[in-house]
Amino acid sequence: VPSPGTLGPVAIAGAGALGTALAHALVGAGVPVVAVASRHAARAEALARGLSGVRAVSLAEAGAAAPIVLVAVADSAIEDACQALQASPGTLLAHTSGSRSVAALDAAQARGARVGGFHPLAAVVSAPPGRALSPEEWASSFRGAAFAIEGNDDVQALLAPLARALGGWPFAIAGSDKPLYHLGASMLAAFSAGLAQLAWDRMRAAGAPDEVASAGVGHLLATVAGNVARASSPAAALTGPVARGDAGGVLRQAAAARQLSAEAQVLYAAHAEHNIQLAENARRISTAMAQELRDALLRAASLAREPLR
Ligand SMILES: NC(=O)c1ccc[n+]([C@@H]2O[C@H](COP(=O)([O-])OP(=O)(O)OC[C@H]3O[C@@H](n4cnc5c(N)ncnc54)[C@H](OP(=O)(O)O)[C@@H]3O)[C@@H](O)[C@H]2O)c1
Repeated sequence: VPSPGTLGPVAIAGAGALGTALAHALVGAGVPVVAVASRHAARAEALARGLSGVRAVSLAEAGAAAPIVLVAVADSAIEDACQALQASPGTLLAHTSGSRSVAALDAAQARGARVGGFHPLAAVVSAPPGRALSPEEWASSFRGAAFAIEGNDDVQALLAPLARALGGWPFAIAGSDKPLYHLGASMLAAFSAGLAQLAWDRMRAAGAPDEVASAGVGHLLATVAGNVARASSPAAALTGPVARGDAGGVLRQAAAARQLSAEAQVLYAAHAEHNIQLAENARRISTAMAQELRDALLRAASLAREPLR
């Protein structure tokens, strides 16, 4: 980890969920964050109030406030923000979108600015209303995260140390690879949270209080995350009846999903088929077993609605 004195200074444009978390975490890591800006001045002012040494400025001022400006605005607003920022020649403007390339910053490049992409592979939400996060909580959003960094060698040399200062793992990415890279990451983050809601609802329906359901679902996801992080590849961390080659278990689960809702049925069938393929490719189950599991899915789909046993 480089010493903080060799990093930044940084300005942040966009005081949304990610811009706010980055501002807090960078300050906590000792990186000088000198200015924050946002479309709505009040949001930048509120963020700056909670951070010592940070000024709230207009977007136009932010473009010249620091040699590195992180543009953490909505994906579809990058071009507008880039125009508003009026980056000075030589300034490095880096947006935080995982799916868009640095071409979204062409207007800044035409004015002589350097351009880059700085995408933390982390799911960041705004702090719950009325709850101030601790420096440790802000830091934990990025510690251990991969950071996809787009840009030439000079840009990599400026942005990778920021990722390392946050305890992250920078890697270089080409703009053309970003849409599919981000598709995988976004499906994982968004759909696992959606599946957590399904699990939470079933725990509540089974009698668990809200807080037990929330802690329980969070813990379950954390154990999956730990297993995946330690495994040689995520397929080695699959659990459940598919990974065990338990056709009877798959039949009972598919039938239960069918009773729950049409949506649960579709989700279950798609995920089970995906996991059968993964388990077979990873040689965790034989081809014959994979066929038995697929037969169980077909059988469940053809079952009439009848009480589960
Ligand atoms: N949240 C995550 O987990 C995460 C992770 C990695 C990357 N990212 C990326 O980070 C970026 C921001 O995401 P977010 O989750 O922080 O979104 P967000 O909470 O919705 O914040 C969006 C920000 O964009 C600003 N904005 C919207 N339209 C604008 C415009 N026309 N001109 C200037 N600013 C505008 C908003 O300003 P006001 O608040 O002042 O209206 C707000 O600060 C996106 O590129 C996203 O893909 C997010």
